[in-house]
Amino acid sequence: MKENPKHVAIIMDGNGRWAKKRMLPRNYGHKQGSENLRKLSFYIFDQGIEVLSVFCFSTENFSRPSDEVNYLMNLFVEKFHSEFEEYKKKNIKVVFSGRRENLRPDVLEAMDKITEETKNNTRAILNLCLNYGGQYELIDAMKKIIKEKKEIDSLTPEELMHYFYQDLPPIDFLIRTSGEYRLSNFMLYQSSYAELYFPETYFPDFDEREFDKALDIYHHRDRRFGSIKEK
Ligand code: FPP
Repeated sequence: MKENPKHVAIIMDGNGRWAKKRMLPRNYGHKQGSENLRKLSFYIFDQGIEVLSVFCFSTENFSRPSDEVNYLMNLFVEKFHSEFEEYKKKNIKVVFSGRRENLRPDVLEAMDKITEETKNNTRAILNLCLNYGGQYELIDAMKKIIKEKKEIDSLTPEELMHYFYQDLPPIDFLIRTSGEYRLSNFMLYQSSYAELYFPETYFPDFDEREFDKALDIYHHRDRRFGSIKEK
C-alpha cells in the first residue's frame, strides 16, 4: 500500500469558465467553487491527509474588476463566519498564508475569528492562501530573517521554511484544475519536490471522485527527490 501525500495543494482554477459554460455570471462560479472546497476539504482530510493548502486569492487578483474582487471578499467573510463551527467540530485547524495589507477590516476580522476558533485543533490543517504571492512570501521570510538577525551562513533549506507565513511540511502533491499548466507564483519553494497534476476539470466539478483519480495517479508516481531509481 503506497503512502498518501502528507501535504496536498490545490490551485482552484476554472470557476469563471465553469460559470460561462452554463451561461451564468462568473461570480456564481466562485460560489460553487467555495461550496466544492468545503465538501472536498472534508473528504481530503478523511483520507488521512494532514495538510491542505488552497489558492483562494492571489496578490495579483486585486487587478480584477472591483465587483469580482468585492464578491470574493464578501464570500470569504460569509463563509469564514458560517463555516468555522464545522471546522471546529471536525478538529481541523484553519490558518492563512498571505499579506494582511490591502485586505478589508471585515475580511481580516473573519479570518482572525476562524483562526482563533480553530487554533487548538489537531486532526489536520487547512491553509487558506489569501492575498498570497510566492515571491512576496520569500521576501517576507527574508525580512523576518534579517530582523531576527539569524546567522545566514548556516541557514538550511528546511530552516528557511520555518520563516514562511505558516510553518508547514513541504508539498507532496500539487493539483491545478482547469487544464492550465502553470504554478502562477503559488508556493514555489514548498513545491520544489512536489508531484504535479493538471486535470482538465474546472474546480467546481473537481469532486471526491476526481480526487480519488488524482490520488491514484499520485500513487503511481515514482518519487525520487534527486536520487537514482531503486529497483
Ligand atoms: C480562479 O478561477 C479562482 C479564483 C481566483 C478564486 C478561488 C476561490 C474560491 C474557489 C472560493 C474559495 C472560498 C473560500 C470561502 C475559501 P478563475 O476565476 O480564474 O476562473 P477562470 O480561469 O475560468 O476565469
